[in-house]
Amino acid sequence: MDKIGVIGCGYVGLVTGVCLAELGNQVLCSEVDGEKVEKLSLGVSPIYEPDLQPLLAKNLSLRKVEFTTDFNRVIREASILFVAVGTPTTTIGTTDLSQVNGAVDRILSMATGEKIVVMKSTVPVGTGSKLSRLFSRKRSANISYLSNPEFLREGQAVRDFMTPDRIVIGGDVPELIERIASFFEPLKAPCIRTTSTNAELIKYASNAFLATKISFINEIANLCEEVGADVSVVAEGMGLDPRINNHFMRAGIGYGGSCFPKDVKALKQLAGHNGYHFELLSAVIEVNEMQKMRPIQKLRRHLGRLYGRRIGVLGLTFKPNTDDVRDSVGVDLAKLLLFEGAHVTAFDPLGLEQARKVLTGVDLIEDPYLVAEGAEALVIATEDPLYAGLDWERIRGLMAKPLVVDGRNTLDPADLPDGFILEQVGRRVKRIISECGEVGVAQVGLGTTRRVS
Ligand code: UDX
Repeated sequence: MDKIGVIGCGYVGLVTGVCLAELGNQVLCSEVDGEKVEKLSLGVSPIYEPDLQPLLAKNLSLRKVEFTTDFNRVIREASILFVAVGTPTTTIGTTDLSQVNGAVDRILSMATGEKIVVMKSTVPVGTGSKLSRLFSRKRSANISYLSNPEFLREGQAVRDFMTPDRIVIGGDVPELIERIASFFEPLKAPCIRTTSTNAELIKYASNAFLATKISFINEIANLCEEVGADVSVVAEGMGLDPRINNHFMRAGIGYGGSCFPKDVKALKQLAGHNGYHFELLSAVIEVNEMQKMRPIQKLRRHLGRLYGRRIGVLGLTFKPNTDDVRDSVGVDLAKLLLFEGAHVTAFDPLGLEQARKVLTGVDLIEDPYLVAEGAEALVIATEDPLYAGLDWERIRGLMAKPLVVDGRNTLDPADLPDGFILEQVGRRVKRIISECGEVGVAQVGLGTTRRVS
Protein backbone atom coordinates (compact mmCIF):
# COMPACT_ATOMS: atom_id res chain seq x y z
CA MET A 1 0.00 0.00 0.00
CA ASP A 2 1.34 3.46 -0.94
CA LYS A 3 2.08 5.62 2.07
CA ILE A 4 0.74 9.12 1.58
CA GLY A 5 2.72 12.15 2.67
CA VAL A 6 1.03 15.50 3.22
CA ILE A 7 3.23 18.58 3.31
CA GLY A 8 1.66 21.44 5.29
CA CYS A 9 -0.98 21.13 8.00
CA GLY A 10 -3.08 24.22 7.29
CA TYR A 11 -6.81 23.95 6.55
CA VAL A 12 -6.32 22.10 3.27
CA GLY A 13 -3.41 19.87 4.32
CA LEU A 14 -4.85 18.84 7.65
CA VAL A 15 -8.29 18.06 6.28
CA THR A 16 -6.76 16.20 3.33
CA GLY A 17 -4.47 14.16 5.59
CA VAL A 18 -7.11 13.24 8.15
CA CYS A 19 -9.76 12.46 5.53
CA LEU A 20 -7.39 10.33 3.43
CA ALA A 21 -6.63 8.39 6.62
CA GLU A 22 -10.36 8.04 7.25
CA LEU A 23 -10.65 6.56 3.74
CA GLY A 24 -8.27 3.80 4.85
CA ASN A 25 -4.88 5.13 3.81
CA GLN A 26 -1.68 5.34 5.82
CA VAL A 27 -0.84 9.06 6.07
CA LEU A 28 2.21 10.92 7.36
CA CYS A 29 1.82 14.70 7.59
CA SER A 30 4.65 17.20 7.96
CA GLU A 31 4.40 20.69 9.36
CA VAL A 32 7.15 23.22 10.11
CA ASP A 33 5.38 24.60 13.19
CA GLY A 34 6.52 22.35 16.05
CA GLU A 35 3.79 23.55 18.40
CA LYS A 36 1.14 22.54 15.87
CA VAL A 37 2.71 19.10 15.49
CA GLU A 38 2.74 18.64 19.28
CA LYS A 39 -0.96 19.46 19.48
CA LEU A 40 -1.83 17.29 16.50
CA SER A 41 0.12 14.37 17.91
CA LEU A 42 -2.02 14.63 21.04
CA GLY A 43 -5.13 14.53 18.87
CA VAL A 44 -5.93 18.23 19.27
CA SER A 45 -6.75 20.18 16.13
CA PRO A 46 -4.97 23.56 16.05
CA ILE A 47 -7.77 24.99 13.91
CA TYR A 48 -11.49 25.10 14.46
CA GLU A 49 -13.20 23.10 11.75
CA PRO A 50 -16.46 21.23 12.37
CA ASP A 51 -16.12 17.40 12.42
CA LEU A 52 -12.33 17.51 12.13
CA GLN A 53 -11.50 16.95 15.80
CA PRO A 54 -13.19 13.51 16.18
CA LEU A 55 -11.81 12.27 12.85
CA LEU A 56 -8.33 13.38 13.86
CA ALA A 57 -8.53 11.68 17.26
CA LYS A 58 -9.95 8.49 15.77
CA ASN A 59 -7.37 8.10 13.00
CA LEU A 60 -4.53 9.04 15.29
CA SER A 61 -5.49 6.34 17.77
CA LEU A 62 -5.81 3.86 14.89
CA ARG A 63 -2.32 4.97 13.81
CA LYS A 64 -3.65 5.75 10.33
CA VAL A 65 -2.32 9.31 10.52
CA GLU A 66 0.87 10.66 12.03
CA PHE A 67 2.40 14.13 12.33
CA THR A 68 6.01 15.20 12.22
CA THR A 69 8.22 18.23 11.74
CA ASP A 70 10.66 15.98 9.90
CA PHE A 71 9.97 16.76 6.26
CA ASN A 72 12.82 14.51 5.12
CA ARG A 73 11.16 11.54 6.79
CA VAL A 74 7.98 12.20 4.81
CA ILE A 75 9.96 12.32 1.57
CA ARG A 76 11.74 9.10 2.51
CA GLU A 77 8.72 7.10 3.62
CA ALA A 78 5.87 8.30 1.41
CA SER A 79 5.64 7.54 -2.28
CA ILE A 80 2.84 10.03 -2.87
CA LEU A 81 3.43 13.57 -1.65
CA PHE A 82 0.44 15.90 -1.42
CA VAL A 83 1.73 19.48 -1.25
CA ALA A 84 -0.65 21.72 0.71
CA VAL A 85 1.46 24.68 1.75
CA GLY A 86 0.31 28.31 1.72
CA THR A 87 0.41 30.39 -1.46
CA PRO A 88 -0.40 33.88 -0.16
CA THR A 89 -0.33 37.07 -2.21
CA THR A 90 2.77 39.24 -2.31
CA THR A 91 2.49 42.99 -1.70
CA ILE A 92 2.44 43.52 -5.48
CA GLY A 93 -0.42 41.07 -5.99
CA THR A 94 1.55 38.13 -7.38
CA THR A 95 1.47 34.66 -5.80
CA ASP A 96 4.13 34.04 -3.18
CA LEU A 97 5.46 30.62 -4.15
CA SER A 98 8.27 30.53 -1.59
CA GLN A 99 6.68 27.72 0.45
CA VAL A 100 5.95 25.66 -2.68
CA ASN A 101 9.49 26.24 -3.96
CA GLY A 102 10.89 25.31 -0.56
CA ALA A 103 9.01 22.00 -0.65
CA VAL A 104 10.00 21.33 -4.26
CA ASP A 105 13.69 22.01 -3.55
CA ARG A 106 13.64 19.63 -0.62
CA ILE A 107 11.91 16.91 -2.66
CA LEU A 108 14.43 17.39 -5.46
CA SER A 109 17.37 17.07 -3.14
CA MET A 110 16.06 14.25 -0.93
CA ALA A 111 13.88 12.01 -3.09
CA THR A 112 15.03 8.64 -4.27
CA GLY A 113 13.06 5.94 -6.09
CA GLU A 114 9.59 6.66 -7.41
CA LYS A 115 7.60 9.66 -6.10
CA ILE A 116 4.40 11.32 -7.23
CA VAL A 117 4.07 14.97 -6.20
CA VAL A 118 0.41 16.01 -6.07
CA MET A 119 -0.17 19.75 -5.85
CA LYS A 120 -3.14 20.67 -3.64
CA SER A 121 -2.04 24.26 -3.10
CA THR A 122 -3.53 26.82 -5.46
CA VAL A 123 -0.63 27.67 -7.77
CA PRO A 124 -0.46 29.96 -10.81
CA VAL A 125 -1.44 28.45 -14.11
CA GLY A 126 1.68 27.00 -15.75
CA THR A 127 3.33 25.97 -12.47
CA GLY A 128 2.60 22.30 -13.18
CA SER A 129 4.31 22.36 -16.58
CA LYS A 130 7.37 24.08 -15.10
CA LEU A 131 7.62 21.71 -12.15
CA SER A 132 7.08 18.63 -14.34
CA ARG A 133 10.06 19.72 -16.46
CA LEU A 134 12.12 20.39 -13.36
CA PHE A 135 11.34 17.01 -11.81
CA SER A 136 12.00 15.16 -15.08
CA ARG A 137 15.59 16.44 -15.07
CA LYS A 138 16.32 14.67 -11.80
CA ARG A 139 18.21 11.51 -12.70
CA SER A 140 18.56 9.79 -9.32
CA ALA A 141 14.78 9.59 -8.74
CA ASN A 142 11.65 9.18 -10.80
CA ILE A 143 9.49 12.13 -9.71
CA SER A 144 6.15 12.77 -11.43
CA TYR A 145 3.88 15.75 -10.95
CA LEU A 146 0.09 15.98 -10.81
CA SER A 147 -2.24 18.85 -10.07
CA ASN A 148 -5.20 18.12 -7.77
CA PRO A 149 -6.81 21.43 -6.79
CA GLU A 150 -8.91 21.54 -3.65
CA PHE A 151 -12.37 23.09 -3.59
CA LEU A 152 -13.27 22.68 0.08
CA ARG A 153 -14.80 25.53 2.01
CA GLU A 154 -13.71 26.42 5.50
CA GLY A 155 -16.38 25.73 8.07
CA GLN A 156 -17.52 22.65 6.16
CA ALA A 157 -14.20 21.35 4.93
CA VAL A 158 -14.62 17.76 6.10
CA ARG A 159 -18.06 17.52 4.53
CA ASP A 160 -16.77 19.07 1.29
CA PHE A 161 -13.85 16.63 1.21
CA MET A 162 -16.05 13.59 1.81
CA THR A 163 -18.85 14.63 -0.56
CA PRO A 164 -17.14 16.66 -3.28
CA ASP A 165 -18.92 18.04 -6.35
CA ARG A 166 -15.96 16.96 -8.44
CA ILE A 167 -12.40 15.76 -8.31
CA VAL A 168 -9.94 17.37 -10.72
CA ILE A 169 -6.66 15.67 -11.53
CA GLY A 170 -4.26 17.16 -14.04
CA GLY A 171 -1.11 15.62 -15.47
CA ASP A 172 0.58 14.11 -18.50
CA VAL A 173 0.55 10.39 -17.69
CA PRO A 174 -2.89 8.72 -17.68
CA GLU A 175 -1.73 5.80 -15.47
CA LEU A 176 -0.55 8.19 -12.77
CA ILE A 177 -3.79 10.15 -12.95
CA GLU A 178 -5.65 6.85 -12.44
CA ARG A 179 -3.45 6.00 -9.48
CA ILE A 180 -4.35 9.23 -7.71
CA ALA A 181 -7.99 9.00 -8.84
CA SER A 182 -8.21 5.63 -7.08
CA PHE A 183 -7.74 7.32 -3.70
CA PHE A 184 -10.88 9.37 -4.33
CA GLU A 185 -12.86 6.48 -5.82
CA PRO A 186 -14.84 5.85 -2.58
CA LEU A 187 -16.17 9.43 -2.74
CA LYS A 188 -18.15 8.62 -5.91
CA ALA A 189 -17.69 12.09 -7.37
CA PRO A 190 -17.30 12.98 -11.05
CA CYS A 191 -13.60 13.10 -11.87
CA ILE A 192 -12.08 15.40 -14.47
CA ARG A 193 -8.86 13.92 -15.82
CA THR A 194 -6.99 16.56 -17.72
CA THR A 195 -3.73 18.51 -18.12
CA SER A 196 -2.19 20.31 -15.16
CA THR A 197 -2.75 23.65 -16.89
CA ASN A 198 -6.48 22.96 -17.23
CA ALA A 199 -6.65 21.76 -13.63
CA GLU A 200 -4.93 24.90 -12.36
CA LEU A 201 -7.23 27.14 -14.36
CA ILE A 202 -10.35 25.27 -13.22
CA LYS A 203 -9.49 26.23 -9.65
CA TYR A 204 -8.87 29.93 -10.34
CA ALA A 205 -11.79 30.28 -12.71
CA SER A 206 -14.17 28.61 -10.23
CA ASN A 207 -13.21 30.93 -7.39
CA ALA A 208 -13.23 34.00 -9.64
CA PHE A 209 -16.66 33.08 -10.98
CA LEU A 210 -18.09 32.68 -7.47
CA ALA A 211 -16.56 36.01 -6.45
CA THR A 212 -18.12 37.56 -9.57
CA LYS A 213 -21.51 36.24 -8.52
CA ILE A 214 -21.08 37.86 -5.11
CA SER A 215 -19.99 41.21 -6.53
CA PHE A 216 -22.86 41.08 -9.01
CA ILE A 217 -25.51 40.49 -6.36
CA ASN A 218 -23.90 43.14 -4.18
CA GLU A 219 -24.28 45.68 -6.96
CA ILE A 220 -27.89 44.61 -7.47
CA ALA A 221 -28.32 45.08 -3.70
CA ASN A 222 -26.97 48.61 -3.88
CA LEU A 223 -29.40 49.34 -6.68
CA CYS A 224 -32.23 47.82 -4.61
CA GLU A 225 -31.51 50.35 -1.88
CA GLU A 226 -31.90 53.16 -4.41
CA VAL A 227 -35.11 51.95 -6.02
CA GLY A 228 -36.81 50.49 -2.94
CA ALA A 229 -36.54 46.82 -3.91
CA ASP A 230 -35.52 43.93 -1.65
CA VAL A 231 -32.42 42.04 -2.78
CA SER A 232 -33.40 38.81 -1.01
CA VAL A 233 -36.59 38.58 -3.04
CA VAL A 234 -34.80 39.62 -6.22
CA ALA A 235 -32.07 36.99 -5.63
CA GLU A 236 -34.67 34.34 -4.87
CA GLY A 237 -36.55 35.14 -8.06
CA MET A 238 -33.35 35.06 -10.10
CA GLY A 239 -32.06 31.90 -8.43
CA LEU A 240 -35.09 29.83 -9.40
CA ASP A 241 -33.69 29.89 -12.92
CA PRO A 242 -31.38 26.85 -12.79
CA ARG A 243 -28.96 28.60 -15.15
CA ILE A 244 -28.46 31.21 -12.43
CA ASN A 245 -29.24 29.17 -9.27
CA ASN A 246 -29.42 30.52 -5.75
CA HIS A 247 -25.89 29.71 -4.57
CA PHE A 248 -23.55 32.58 -3.76
CA MET A 249 -26.36 35.05 -4.25
CA ARG A 250 -26.37 36.40 -0.72
CA ALA A 251 -25.70 40.11 -0.74
CA GLY A 252 -23.46 41.46 1.97
CA ILE A 253 -20.49 43.68 2.67
CA GLY A 254 -18.11 41.80 0.43
CA TYR A 255 -16.28 38.52 0.20
CA GLY A 256 -13.20 37.75 2.27
CA GLY A 257 -11.11 34.78 3.34
CA SER A 258 -7.85 33.23 2.34
CA CYS A 259 -9.00 32.28 -1.16
CA PHE A 260 -11.35 34.61 -3.02
CA PRO A 261 -9.49 37.92 -2.62
CA LYS A 262 -6.13 36.33 -3.45
CA ASP A 263 -7.33 34.08 -6.27
CA VAL A 264 -9.29 36.77 -8.09
CA LYS A 265 -6.27 39.08 -8.00
CA ALA A 266 -3.95 36.26 -9.06
CA LEU A 267 -6.13 35.39 -12.06
CA LYS A 268 -6.21 39.03 -13.14
CA GLN A 269 -2.41 39.19 -12.81
CA LEU A 270 -2.00 35.95 -14.72
CA ALA A 271 -4.12 37.32 -17.55
CA GLY A 272 -2.11 40.54 -17.55
CA HIS A 273 1.19 38.69 -17.67
CA ASN A 274 -0.11 36.81 -20.69
CA GLY A 275 -1.08 40.00 -22.48
CA TYR A 276 -4.78 39.88 -21.71
CA HIS A 277 -6.61 42.56 -19.72
CA PHE A 278 -9.31 40.78 -17.70
CA GLU A 279 -11.67 43.75 -17.44
CA LEU A 280 -14.44 41.93 -15.58
CA LEU A 281 -12.18 40.90 -12.70
CA SER A 282 -11.04 44.50 -12.19
CA ALA A 283 -14.69 45.37 -11.58
CA VAL A 284 -15.23 42.38 -9.29
CA ILE A 285 -12.32 43.47 -7.11
CA GLU A 286 -13.33 47.14 -7.11
CA VAL A 287 -16.95 46.37 -6.24
CA ASN A 288 -15.78 44.23 -3.33
CA GLU A 289 -13.54 47.00 -1.98
CA MET A 290 -16.35 49.57 -2.26
CA GLN A 291 -18.81 47.20 -0.63
CA LYS A 292 -16.67 47.07 2.51
CA MET A 293 -17.01 50.85 2.77
CA ARG A 294 -20.80 50.88 2.71
CA PRO A 295 -21.32 50.25 6.44
CA ILE A 296 -19.07 53.24 7.13
CA GLN A 297 -21.16 55.41 4.79
CA LYS A 298 -24.35 54.21 6.46
CA LEU A 299 -22.98 54.93 9.92
CA ARG A 300 -21.94 58.42 8.82
CA ARG A 301 -25.39 59.06 7.40
CA HIS A 302 -26.95 58.44 10.81
CA LEU A 303 -24.22 59.62 13.17
CA GLY A 304 -22.27 62.21 11.17
CA ARG A 305 -18.55 62.11 11.98
CA LEU A 306 -17.53 58.85 13.58
CA TYR A 307 -14.70 60.42 15.55
CA GLY A 308 -15.07 59.51 19.24
CA ARG A 309 -18.23 57.45 18.60
CA ARG A 310 -18.49 54.07 20.26
CA ILE A 311 -19.20 51.46 17.59
CA GLY A 312 -19.56 47.71 18.19
CA VAL A 313 -18.63 45.15 15.55
CA LEU A 314 -20.24 41.71 15.69
CA GLY A 315 -18.23 39.17 13.70
CA LEU A 316 -14.51 39.21 12.92
CA THR A 317 -13.92 35.97 11.05
CA PHE A 318 -14.37 36.00 7.27
CA LYS A 319 -17.51 33.90 7.65
CA PRO A 320 -19.28 31.96 10.44
CA ASN A 321 -18.17 28.57 11.76
CA THR A 322 -14.48 29.25 11.46
CA ASP A 323 -11.81 30.98 13.54
CA ASP A 324 -10.06 32.24 10.40
CA VAL A 325 -9.71 36.02 10.20
CA ARG A 326 -7.54 36.13 7.06
CA ASP A 327 -8.73 38.86 4.69
CA SER A 328 -11.84 39.20 6.79
CA VAL A 329 -14.26 42.02 6.06
CA GLY A 330 -15.07 42.32 9.80
CA VAL A 331 -11.40 42.94 10.62
CA ASP A 332 -11.10 45.45 7.74
CA LEU A 333 -14.20 47.19 8.99
CA ALA A 334 -12.87 47.44 12.54
CA LYS A 335 -9.66 48.96 11.12
CA LEU A 336 -11.60 51.43 8.96
CA LEU A 337 -13.61 52.50 12.00
CA LEU A 338 -10.38 53.02 13.95
CA PHE A 339 -9.07 55.22 11.11
CA GLU A 340 -12.25 57.28 11.44
CA GLY A 341 -11.37 57.82 15.10
CA ALA A 342 -14.19 55.68 16.48
CA HIS A 343 -13.90 53.76 19.72
CA VAL A 344 -14.32 50.21 18.45
CA THR A 345 -15.37 47.18 20.45
CA ALA A 346 -15.85 43.79 18.82
CA PHE A 347 -17.16 40.30 19.45
CA ASP A 348 -16.71 37.03 17.63
CA PRO A 349 -17.80 33.57 18.81
CA LEU A 350 -14.70 31.73 17.49
CA GLY A 351 -12.23 34.24 16.12
CA LEU A 352 -11.17 36.45 19.04
CA GLU A 353 -7.86 34.67 19.60
CA GLN A 354 -6.87 35.04 15.94
CA ALA A 355 -8.25 38.58 15.80
CA ARG A 356 -5.98 39.59 18.70
CA LYS A 357 -2.99 38.87 16.44
CA VAL A 358 -4.12 41.25 13.69
CA LEU A 359 -6.07 43.99 15.48
CA THR A 360 -4.65 46.54 17.84
CA GLY A 361 -6.68 49.35 19.31
CA VAL A 362 -9.96 47.41 19.24
CA ASP A 363 -11.53 46.18 22.49
CA LEU A 364 -12.12 42.50 21.81
CA ILE A 365 -14.84 41.25 24.09
CA GLU A 366 -16.21 37.76 24.66
CA ASP A 367 -19.75 38.93 25.31
CA PRO A 368 -21.89 40.53 22.59
CA TYR A 369 -23.96 42.34 25.22
CA LEU A 370 -20.87 44.10 26.54
CA VAL A 371 -20.12 45.18 22.97
CA ALA A 372 -23.63 46.67 22.81
CA GLU A 373 -23.23 48.50 26.11
CA GLY A 374 -22.98 52.23 25.45
CA ALA A 375 -22.61 51.67 21.68
CA GLU A 376 -23.99 54.27 19.31
CA ALA A 377 -24.23 51.63 16.60
CA LEU A 378 -23.69 47.92 16.10
CA VAL A 379 -22.40 46.56 12.81
CA ILE A 380 -22.98 42.87 11.98
CA ALA A 381 -20.12 41.71 9.77
CA THR A 382 -20.60 37.94 9.53
CA GLU A 383 -23.60 35.91 8.57
CA ASP A 384 -23.86 34.10 11.89
CA PRO A 385 -27.36 32.95 12.94
CA LEU A 386 -26.21 33.59 16.50
CA TYR A 387 -26.94 37.30 16.07
CA ALA A 388 -30.61 36.78 15.24
CA GLY A 389 -30.91 34.79 18.49
CA LEU A 390 -29.59 37.56 20.73
CA ASP A 391 -31.91 39.30 23.18
CA TRP A 392 -32.50 42.48 21.15
CA GLU A 393 -34.80 43.94 23.79
CA ARG A 394 -31.89 43.78 26.21
CA ILE A 395 -29.50 45.14 23.58
CA ARG A 396 -31.74 48.14 22.92
CA GLY A 397 -31.63 48.91 26.64
CA LEU A 398 -27.84 48.70 26.64
CA MET A 399 -27.11 50.79 23.56
CA ALA A 400 -26.65 54.54 23.65
CA LYS A 401 -28.40 54.80 20.24
CA PRO A 402 -30.50 51.99 18.74
CA LEU A 403 -28.76 51.81 15.35
CA VAL A 404 -27.90 48.46 13.76
CA VAL A 405 -26.06 48.13 10.47
CA ASP A 406 -26.67 44.52 9.49
CA GLY A 407 -24.05 43.88 6.81
CA ARG A 408 -25.21 40.32 6.13
CA ASN A 409 -28.99 40.56 6.43
CA THR A 410 -28.97 38.22 9.40
CA LEU A 411 -31.80 39.93 11.26
CA ASP A 412 -35.50 39.76 10.57
CA PRO A 413 -36.87 43.28 11.14
CA ALA A 414 -40.09 41.79 12.47
CA ASP A 415 -38.12 40.23 15.36
CA LEU A 416 -36.59 43.50 16.51
CA PRO A 417 -38.24 45.48 19.28
CA ASP A 418 -39.51 49.03 18.85
CA GLY A 419 -37.15 51.87 18.37
CA PHE A 420 -34.36 50.23 16.40
CA ILE A 421 -33.13 51.77 13.18
CA LEU A 422 -32.04 48.91 10.97
CA GLU A 423 -29.74 49.31 7.99
CA GLN A 424 -29.47 46.15 5.91
CA VAL A 425 -27.98 45.33 2.53
CA GLY A 426 -30.19 45.71 -0.52
CA ARG A 427 -33.18 46.95 1.46
CA ARG A 428 -34.18 50.43 2.47
CA VAL A 429 -33.38 51.43 6.02
CA LYS A 430 -36.10 50.51 8.46
CA ARG A 431 -37.28 52.08 11.68
CA ILE A 432 -39.01 49.55 13.87
CA ILE A 433 -42.28 50.89 15.25
CA SER A 434 -45.31 49.32 16.90
CA GLU A 435 -48.72 49.78 15.41
CA CYS A 436 -51.91 48.35 16.96
CA GLY A 437 -49.80 46.24 19.28
CA GLU A 438 -47.98 44.57 16.38
CA VAL A 439 -44.50 45.30 15.17
CA GLY A 440 -44.69 47.34 12.00
CA VAL A 441 -41.96 48.61 9.81
CA ALA A 442 -41.45 52.08 8.41
CA GLN A 443 -39.03 52.79 5.61
CA VAL A 444 -36.77 55.73 6.00
CA GLY A 445 -35.41 56.96 2.69
CA LEU A 446 -32.27 59.03 2.46
CA GLY A 447 -33.30 62.00 4.58
CA THR A 448 -37.04 61.33 4.33
CA THR A 449 -39.36 59.16 6.37
CA ARG A 450 -42.10 57.23 4.65
CA ARG A 451 -44.47 54.92 6.44
CA VAL A 452 -45.38 51.62 4.89
CA SER A 453 -48.00 49.35 6.27
C1 UDX B 1 -13.87 29.37 -1.10
C2 UDX B 1 -14.51 28.44 -2.14
O1 UDX B 1 -15.91 28.37 -1.89
C3 UDX B 1 -13.87 27.05 -2.07
O2 UDX B 1 -14.41 26.23 -3.09
C4 UDX B 1 -12.36 27.20 -2.27
O3 UDX B 1 -11.74 25.95 -2.14
C5 UDX B 1 -11.79 28.16 -1.26
O4 UDX B 1 -12.47 29.43 -1.33
P1 UDX B 1 -14.02 29.70 1.55
O5 UDX B 1 -12.96 30.73 1.37
O6 UDX B 1 -13.90 28.70 2.65
O7 UDX B 1 -14.15 28.84 0.19
O8 UDX B 1 -15.40 30.47 1.78
P2 UDX B 1 -16.83 30.64 1.06
O9 UDX B 1 -17.85 29.93 1.81
O10 UDX B 1 -16.74 30.34 -0.38
O11 UDX B 1 -17.05 32.21 1.28
C6 UDX B 1 -16.09 33.17 0.83
C7 UDX B 1 -16.55 34.57 1.13
O12 UDX B 1 -17.66 34.92 0.33
C8 UDX B 1 -17.00 34.79 2.59
O13 UDX B 1 -16.47 36.02 3.04
C9 UDX B 1 -18.51 34.87 2.50
O14 UDX B 1 -19.07 35.67 3.50
C10 UDX B 1 -18.70 35.48 1.13
N1 UDX B 1 -20.00 35.14 0.52
C11 UDX B 1 -20.27 33.86 0.17
C12 UDX B 1 -20.93 36.15 0.27
O15 UDX B 1 -20.69 37.33 0.55
N2 UDX B 1 -22.11 35.81 -0.34
C13 UDX B 1 -22.41 34.55 -0.70
O16 UDX B 1 -23.51 34.33 -1.25
C14 UDX B 1 -21.48 33.54 -0.42
